[in-house]
Amino acid sequence: MKKLLVSTGGGDCPGLNAVIRGITKRAAQSGEWEVWGSFEAFNGVMENPPRILKLDEQNTAGIHVIGGTMLGTTNKGNPLRFSAKQADGSVKVINKIPELVADLKKKGFDAVINIGGDGSQEISQAMFEAGMPVVGVPKTIDNDLSSTDFTFGFQTAVQIATDSFDRLVTTAASHHRVMIMEVMGRNAGWIALYTAIAGGAEICLIPEIPYDLKEVVKRIESRYANGRGFVNIVIAEGAHAEEGTVTSSQGEEGRIAVRLGGVAYTLSEQLKAAGLDADIRETVLGHTQRGGTPIAFDRVIASVFGVKAFELVLEGKFGELVVLLNNEYTSVPIKKAISAYNYVDPKGTLVQAAKGMGISFGD
Ligand code: F6P
Repeated sequence: MKKLLVSTGGGDCPGLNAVIRGITKRAAQSGEWEVWGSFEAFNGVMENPPRILKLDEQNTAGIHVIGGTMLGTTNKGNPLRFSAKQADGSVKVINKIPELVADLKKKGFDAVINIGGDGSQEISQAMFEAGMPVVGVPKTIDNDLSSTDFTFGFQTAVQIATDSFDRLVTTAASHHRVMIMEVMGRNAGWIALYTAIAGGAEICLIPEIPYDLKEVVKRIESRYANGRGFVNIVIAEGAHAEEGTVTSSQGEEGRIAVRLGGVAYTLSEQLKAAGLDADIRETVLGHTQRGGTPIAFDRVIASVFGVKAFELVLEGKFGELVVLLNNEYTSVPIKKAISAYNYVDPKGTLVQAAKGMGISFGD
């Protein structure tokens, strides 16, 4: 039997378990491959003794409806830029990919399926270039990976955000308030944009369109002047004013990406400082957007990605990322997929349609 290693890296995301199940089921049909899962991305397989689990149809049964990942995950300890503590207490950033690939080969792994976002796929590409046969599966609620119509997890996050938005409209209308709802998304405004359209927001602020505070105030005041005494705003965590910067907090040890969050409070302060005379409340949805069971769309896309990823392994087509492109399940070179970030196009159909419905982007 050949040995396949499956890894889930980066933030947890609804649909990860459905991918694992899809891979395992299809591999069982092939009769030629054993599937192993590494706990907490590649950390598990590199430990001594390794923390890995043989996956089969029994231990993956029914997991497609469960959120998170049965293998656990981490966004620390990136093997490409690993922070190694030195004897003198200093930290040296080292590339552990050659060590990882040599270790996997020594342990008898013939191929890897790496399920993760852009950071994880950067790791996939580096492993592939170092001689490991790798297939990638695009995961993230942010939908910020290029070369795929959607990553799995995104639609679930949008549904959760929309449900929350609908609830906040009730309070906004009853109390004549300005309700600011902050959603995730890193440097892309996809979750905010979809939620604003689905929920019917008055204002949607996204990283791709830095906002002019004066415009935001003008829009809110005109709503109150019209007698419609409440405003619902959706703001993406990476949004910022034209002359401002992103709202972030101190990084954690071993973590490379900046930790975003709290821009709802920044905007609230800015509005008060600009003299807006209204009751303002802030809601930061945070990790609720990544939690719980995936909606049907994400279960489908994740399951198909899992099966397709294994079929790429069978075909020996490595260095590829399974994608949904123009509504077709196919694959693209990982290198191509990570070469560009998937930003919202401010001139694109969705933003223009939102503007056509009167949603302000503060520009
Ligand atoms: O990439 C997914 C994501 O949820 C982003 O939207 C967010 O900025 C980040 O991860 C949060 O990371 P953590 O769970 O480490 O706080």
